[in-house]
Amino acid sequence: MLSYRHAFHAGNHADVLKHLVLTQVLLHMASKDKPYTLIDTHAGAGGYSLEGRYAQKKAEYKHGIARLLGRHDLPRPLRDYVAWVQQFNGGGNLEQYPGSPGFAQMLLRPQDRLRLFELHPTDHRILHAYLGKRPDTQVTQADGFAALKGELPPPSRRGVVLIDPSYEIKSDYGRTVGALREALTRFAQGVVIVWYPQLLMLESRQLPKRLQATADRLATKGWLHVRMTVQASDERGFGLLGSGLFVVNPPHVLHNSLRGVMQYLVDVLGQYDGANYLLEQRAQ
Ligand SMILES: C[S@@+](CC[C@H](N)C(=O)[O-])C[C@H]1O[C@@H](n2cnc3c(N)ncnc32)[C@H](O)[C@@H]1O
Repeated sequence: MLSYRHAFHAGNHADVLKHLVLTQVLLHMASKDKPYTLIDTHAGAGGYSLEGRYAQKKAEYKHGIARLLGRHDLPRPLRDYVAWVQQFNGGGNLEQYPGSPGFAQMLLRPQDRLRLFELHPTDHRILHAYLGKRPDTQVTQADGFAALKGELPPPSRRGVVLIDPSYEIKSDYGRTVGALREALTRFAQGVVIVWYPQLLMLESRQLPKRLQATADRLATKGWLHVRMTVQASDERGFGLLGSGLFVVNPPHVLHNSLRGVMQYLVDVLGQYDGANYLLEQRAQ
């Protein structure tokens, strides 16, 4: 069943939004000395060649990260995110794109813990070779939804959970809501970031409201929801219109950071006149 390979999509508009939010959250976590744990339930391979056959197939990164490089007017949070992508490339040309574990490797401090789950054997092997030797890091080939509860609460009571499924099976939508519920039941103050694809199908349209209802019930510090729509659906109603992130217990600075960036991102990454964004939050 595991036909999804993130290498096809690395660096696309959805990765840009997701990793922008992830880097902002991790930066905030590092503003306090106390160690924290990052749990990535669907970690992927950790980094991707943009010159390989997969990434070149549709060259999605050309409508994502590639549009941001070389721009001199990037707002601060985007400038930081682009700088990390450049760092991952050793300061040279854009040949590789970091996955979420790649950003974690650059942003976590030596005292921070990393727990990575990836089901696909090839991606797990690559990820293990890349980060298996990092101190206090576990790279496990397992179902990240099921493994999450065993990791919570983290020892220092500071933690971030990234839930970034491929949604290649419809049950991923329900399992994502279930994972958020489990996470908050065990660790109500934890920061949980859920990525979702913006599609016309019902499950995708309903997901933000289901996440919101769960967070309203269980989170201690509210939630933030950001969505960026970059293209129209095709004539059959298919296609990835954009993507969104639902962040539970977000850092208080996240809303401000994103408010200063989202219109810029829409202007640069939008692929049709109707490109737009939504940014909403409920503080508690
Ligand atoms: C969207 S990709 C992850 C991308 C990664 N988080 C990043 O930002 O670079 C989703 C990954 O989840 C893996 N996967 C699918 N179902 C899974 C499951 N139940 N548990 C863990 N990994 C799973 C897929 O093989 C794929 O690599």
